[in-house]
Amino acid sequence: MSQKLKNKVAVITGGNSGIGLGAAKLFAQEGAKVVITGRDAETINSAVTEIGNGAMGYVSDVSDMSSFVLLFKEIHATLGKIDVLIVNAGIMLTAPIAEMTEEIFDKVTNINYKGAFFTIKHAVPYLNEGASIVITTSTVSDKAFVEGSAYVASKAAKRALVRVLAAELAPQKIRVNALAPGFIDTPLLTKSGFTQAYKIRWVTFLQVR
Ligand SMILES: NC(=O)c1ccc[n+]([C@@H]2O[C@H](COP(=O)([O-])OP(=O)(O)OC[C@H]3O[C@@H](n4cnc5c(N)ncnc54)[C@H](OP(=O)(O)O)[C@@H]3O)[C@@H](O)[C@H]2O)c1
Repeated sequence: MSQKLKNKVAVITGGNSGIGLGAAKLFAQEGAKVVITGRDAETINSAVTEIGNGAMGYVSDVSDMSSFVLLFKEIHATLGKIDVLIVNAGIMLTAPIAEMTEEIFDKVTNINYKGAFFTIKHAVPYLNEGASIVITTSTVSDKAFVEGSAYVASKAAKRALVRVLAAELAPQKIRVNALAPGFIDTPLLTKSGFTQAYKIRWVTFLQVR
């Protein structure tokens, strides 16, 4: 590896699984000091070992506003200002609109959109000039995904946030970009109750649109 991120500080929410963990490992291999967050202490600890290069982990629920109070202050006190913030934590819950409950809507919105919004709000004072914010959206943020109304809306909201913040934070030389993955077979899909057959149907659905 080229060590092109040597000594850069990278914070990845949802870094203990799937896409976030993959990014964390790559960042560490490139020399970055990586901090991951998630809700599950056990997988955070095993991920920190897997990532290596002195990675650190914090238990922090992005839908719990009190979890931000000390998080970025502590990261700053330990590692200094942040160079890369990957706003990645997310869940996917699906249901036909008539069966969509307020509980499902709130869970998806609070983690995916409100969580992303307030992660950035609390992190900005601790970002270096020239820092990069990457927000994990999805290819579905501007596509139809049947029974995914709450999820798709949360991803479209994050995409809108990218446009606003890219302009708003430009004077501080902070770049804001969306990372919009297509289908990736991570634990997200199993946690969402997707069967193997449904995964195949979903991939086919996305490919034809
Ligand atoms: N896989 C795909 O096909 C796909 C496609 C497009 C976009 N995405 C997006 O990519 C991102 C990562 O998903 P993934 O596929 O890698 O899924 P994953 O393996 O389930 O990872 C999701 C991560 O988010 C964390 N997380 C969930 N709720 C959280 C909360 N309230 N507070 C803090 N962390 C939380 C999880 O950690 P804990 O469980 O410990 O909280 C986990 O680390 C998500 O935003 C997802 O919407 C995925």
